[in-house]
This record gives sequence, structure tokens and C-alpha cells, in this order.
Amino acid sequence: MNAPVLELVDGTKQFLGTRALDDVSFALRPGEVHALVGENGAGKSTLIKVLTGVYRPDGGELRHRGSPVVFQRPVQAQQAGISTIYQEVNLVPLRSIASNVYLGREPRRLGLIDWRRTNAMAAELLAGYGIHTDVRRPLGTLGIGSQQMVALARAASTAADVVIMDEPTSSLEPREVETLFSVIERMHEDGVAILYVSHRMDELYRICDRVTVLRDGKLVHTGPLAELPRIELVSKMLGRSVGDLRAHGATEFSGNHFGGDHTAAAEPLLRAEHLTSTPRLSDVSLDIRPGEVVGLAGLLGSGRSETARAIIGAFPLDGGTVLLAGKPVPTSVPGAVRAGISMLAEDRKADGIIPALSVRENIVLAALPRLSRFGVVSRARQDRVVATFMERLRIKASSPDQPVAELSGGNQQKVLLARWLCTEPKVLLLDEPTRGIDVGAKAEVQALIDELATDGLGVLLISSDMEELIDGSDRVVVLRDGAVVGELSGDQVNEDAVLAAIAAVDEGEAP
Ligand SMILES: Nc1ncnc2c1ncn2[C@@H]1O[C@H](COP(=O)(O)OP(=O)(O)OP(=O)(O)O)[C@@H](O)[C@H]1O
Ligand SMILES: [Mg+2]
Repeated sequence: MNAPVLELVDGTKQFLGTRALDDVSFALRPGEVHALVGENGAGKSTLIKVLTGVYRPDGGELRHRGSPVVFQRPVQAQQAGISTIYQEVNLVPLRSIASNVYLGREPRRLGLIDWRRTNAMAAELLAGYGIHTDVRRPLGTLGIGSQQMVALARAASTAADVVIMDEPTSSLEPREVETLFSVIERMHEDGVAILYVSHRMDELYRICDRVTVLRDGKLVHTGPLAELPRIELVSKMLGRSVGDLRAHGATEFSGNHFGGDHTAAAEPLLRAEHLTSTPRLSDVSLDIRPGEVVGLAGLLGSGRSETARAIIGAFPLDGGTVLLAGKPVPTSVPGAVRAGISMLAEDRKADGIIPALSVRENIVLAALPRLSRFGVVSRARQDRVVATFMERLRIKASSPDQPVAELSGGNQQKVLLARWLCTEPKVLLLDEPTRGIDVGAKAEVQALIDELATDGLGVLLISSDMEELIDGSDRVVVLRDGAVVGELSGDQVNEDAVLAAIAAVDEGEAP
């Protein structure tokens, strides 16, 4: 009865220069919620891709319900009852939301896809996940968090007995995370086996029965999770002794490394006034002073990303102005960047990483004008910048010349962060800066942001990680339905107050 439903025996997967999986044996049992953890680049996504037919292992055997199996393509794994939400949402952005939910299994009538039924079914299904929208819209018009919810609804609505989730919560709000957890609970009761990847420790301890730890492609531990103290789990992930972690103050790995409380000058550095874009933004105004980190809170679809994008000229406005040090900011991205505003976008796949370029090129891309003297870019200066950031952010790559597409998700995110941190902007807009970044590196990222703010940078911080938002922000502006509905500062910036601000507004919404 407890025989594994999906099993990899002595699995190996090699890439040029990297052994991403090194003799890993892993078994997923029916009805368990199994956590898969490890630092960025440890091999988690590779293991998932080997289990689901995206990659063929170079060595070892895959078994499904006890029998050897070879999945040539992911669709074969799907047909065998294995449903996967990959780390990078791999749906089709240009197709409608509804067609993405039922891609490959649309209801048909007389041999043709029955769109009316497809749309009606999708609308009903998604409503159950709190997504109320026109399902005929292209998927790509949704924010990355909502796209993740669509991927979740899709996975949960297939009759699968194995569901694999690679960082499903990395851009979800607390409320959506709760929805996800109730879906997982329901699946769990139905005997579905779940493999769950996350860098958020709280989540793992809340929902997982067992844990497997990977480090540098090797399996270092499998066992019950409840019995394993947190610090020991982190010590296994990082390959450092518990004593060593304690000596460093384990808080370094708790994710809270912001100094906070920057003394803000009286004059705003950035002033966004009456930003309006019907129906997504209405009359949003906010200020950022030099050295200040302003958090932007709100639910999915509340207009946080739109606000940031509007400030940098990437979101068309019906009205409103943006002033930097009193001067109007051009309403185009290149113009805004020249004026001193940089933005890390939430969707690294769509708006950030240039897959064909190397790690080095991706890092220096935006800073090139600054790194060049008389039109010539000094290679030595480039190398210095690249080396500094690769070390500080612990970017795991075989060399600076490796194509960035070959890096793990978390390491790609670090590359993007490095790109914007090294442009030395006056104002930095960060949309989910630590999305998918492991516990060790997260503290370093937060310390860097803090350091830059201390030097006078103004930061707008959007984060679905409540702890990060609270600890990192001097002030929090709360949005709902594209409008500012509250502002918290000083002692008010705490989790209860922020959640209350979001929730209180929410209650008004009840019919
Ligand atoms: N297609 C590829 N070509 C070359 N190297 C690759 C490729 N895919 C993954 N790798 C390498 O294999 C290693 C493991 O990557 P993987 O994506 O499995 O990490 P991960 O544990 O999922 O990390 P993260 O937490 O950042 O998502 C990394 O060093 C990565 O650079
Ligand atoms: Mg991964």
C-alpha cells in the first residue's frame, strides 16, 4: 500500500560543467506531502524535470507504481496522472485564460472545441480560486501571481494522483497562499501524493510530512519533517554545522536582515501624483524620500505592479505626473532610466532575463552607460562589478560566461537584481526582489537594499513576503482596486496592522 507511486533510483543528470543530479534516489509515497528543499541551484527543478519527462536522466531508473517507465515527453507523464506546476509558469501567454486552463483537454462538440463550454467551465473553476475575470482575455494580461493561480487551478482540475509544485507560492499573497493550502489539503485527503518545493520554511512545516534535502546535486537527507528542527534543516541545506550557524547568529538565515528606520529627508525624491489609468489605477499618489524604503501592500490585482510600472513609464496612463527631484520624469522607460529610476520587474521571464546572453552580459546590461568612459567599456571595470555581485549574491554559475538561461530560477533572479543594483539609480522600484531566492542569499539581498537606502537611494518595495515587507519598509502604502486606501508608518508598520489594513478594506467588499 505504501509502495512509492513515483520513484527515481540512482538518477543522474549532467549538464556541461555541472552535475545537476548526482546519483539521487528519491521516492514519493501515495498520499504524502513531500517537501523538496535546497539552495538555489541545488537541483530541485532538475529532479522535477527528470521525474516528469522534461529531461531524460543520463543514468538511473524512473519507476511509476513500481514499474520502470520512460517519459519521452511531459505529456506522457501527464497522461500517467502526474500533474506539474513548473517553476516558470509554462502556459501560453497569448492564448486566453480559459484555453490555458483546458489546454489539450478542451470540451469538444462534433469534433470541434466547444468554446462556450470551455469558457463557462473555466470561469466557474477560477471563481473557486478567487479569480473573477473575463476568461477570454489573454493569460499574459494577468500578473504573475494570478497566472500562478491559473496554473494551480489547471493542475488541481486534472484527475491526477501525483501533483508536483515547484515554488507555487513565490508570488502569491497570504490570501492566495491559504487558498492553495486548502486545495492541497483536499488533494491530501483524496490520497494524492504531493511534491512541494519552497524556500519559505513556515509553509513547509505547516503542510509537509516528509522532507528531502538536495545540496550540489546530491541527496543529503530524507526523513519526517516534524522531527527535524529548523536550524538543522538549514544546516543540511547549506552544508554548514549547526554550531557554525549558531555562531553566526542563525538570524542571518531567518530572512530578516534589514536595518530599517532610515532617517528620511523632508523633501521627497520621487513624487507620483494622481496616477490614473482606467480601470486599473485611479488617482494613486505617493512620495519616496531619499533613503526611504516605501512598501506597497495589497492583494493580487490591487495595482501594485501597475503603480511601479506607471512610475517608470511602462504602463500607459490617462493622467498623472511623476517628478524626480522636482523635475518631470519622461513617460518612457529609457527616459525614466536616464533620469535615474530603475525597476526590477516581477516577471523575470517576460521582462528581464535575456536568455541568449551570458551571466556577465545580463548583469552589466543596464549599467553599460555608467561603466563606459568616452564610449569605451573597460573590461576590467565590468569584471570587477560582475565578480562583486556574483560573490555577494552567491550567484551559482559555472562561469560569468555561462548563458543565463542555464541558471536555476533563483540564480536568474539574483542576476536580474545585480543588473539593477549596479546601475546606481536614484530610485529603485523592486517588484518581488527575493522571489525564489534561498534563505541564505535572501539575507544578503536585503542587506544590500538596506545599504543602498542608507546611501540615499529611494526604494519602492513590492513583496508578497509579508515579513520582508514589514522588516524592509519605513512606510507602507496600502492599495486596493488600483487606489490608495491607507498608509502606515513608524510603529504602525507591523504585520497585524498591515493585514488589518488590507482586510478591513476587504470587508467592505463583501456583498
Ligand atoms: N539546461 C541547463 N543547462 C546547463 N545547466 C543547467 C541547466 N539546467 C540546470 N542547470 C544547472 O543545474 C544546477 C541545478 O539547477 P536547478 O534548476 O535544478 O536548481 P534548483 O534547485 O531548482 O534552484 P532554484 O532554487 O534556484 O530554483 C544549476 O547549477 C543549474 O545552473
Ligand atoms: Mg528551481
